[in-house]
Amino acid sequence: MSQARVLVVFFSRTGTTRALASTLAKMLSADLEEICDCTERRGALGYVRCLIDSWRKRPAEIVAAGLDAGQYDLVVVGTPVWAGAVCAPVRAYLLENRWKFRHVAFFCSLGGLGSQSAFDEMRALAGKAPVAQCKVRAAEVQRGAVAASLVLFVGVLKSHLANYDALAWTC
Ligand SMILES: Cc1cc2nc3c(=O)[nH]c(=O)nc-3n(C[C@H](O)[C@H](O)[C@H](O)COP(=O)(O)O)c2cc1C
Repeated sequence: MSQARVLVVFFSRTGTTRALASTLAKMLSADLEEICDCTERRGALGYVRCLIDSWRKRPAEIVAAGLDAGQYDLVVVGTPVWAGAVCAPVRAYLLENRWKFRHVAFFCSLGGLGSQSAFDEMRALAGKAPVAQCKVRAAEVQRGAVAASLVLFVGVLKSHLANYDALAWTC
């Protein structure tokens, strides 16, 4: 078991990214934090607000994080893909916490297209290259089984954390 501290942070509008985030937190023995958005995003009007924020690259107004990202060795950040972009609440979280991150990893849930542009944005917003990134289609999450890509992602993160522990021992 790694000694490193891991935080999984996510936003979810309809529950798909939340399901992924809780699975990940269990697999990584990580703390879990949901980003609270101040904007009403339910229904058709909410959907349009999401689209407009994505097109304008506008960060959402979010509630201040409860857990301090600076206390963690690895912060794993998850977003749904909105119009080929990171969602507005995660955009805000990354901007507000970018100076605190030691290591980051990214995951997203999506219908099918746009993960790479969302990951590119997340990397720029975090100001750091991720240790690993993982996309999972909403349809896979709804099927209930743990996606193969998620298992692979966790494997890469665990081996990164094991190296991190080894480095900590030599210091
Ligand atoms: C405003 C909006 C835009 C979206 N744009 C995309 C997109 O560009 N590509 C895609 O594959 N899925 C897109 N989706 C689908 C979501 O990424 C997908 O359903 C995701 O799993 C939802 O996650 P959530 O349940 O955690 O909110 C979009 C959804 C919304 C609400």
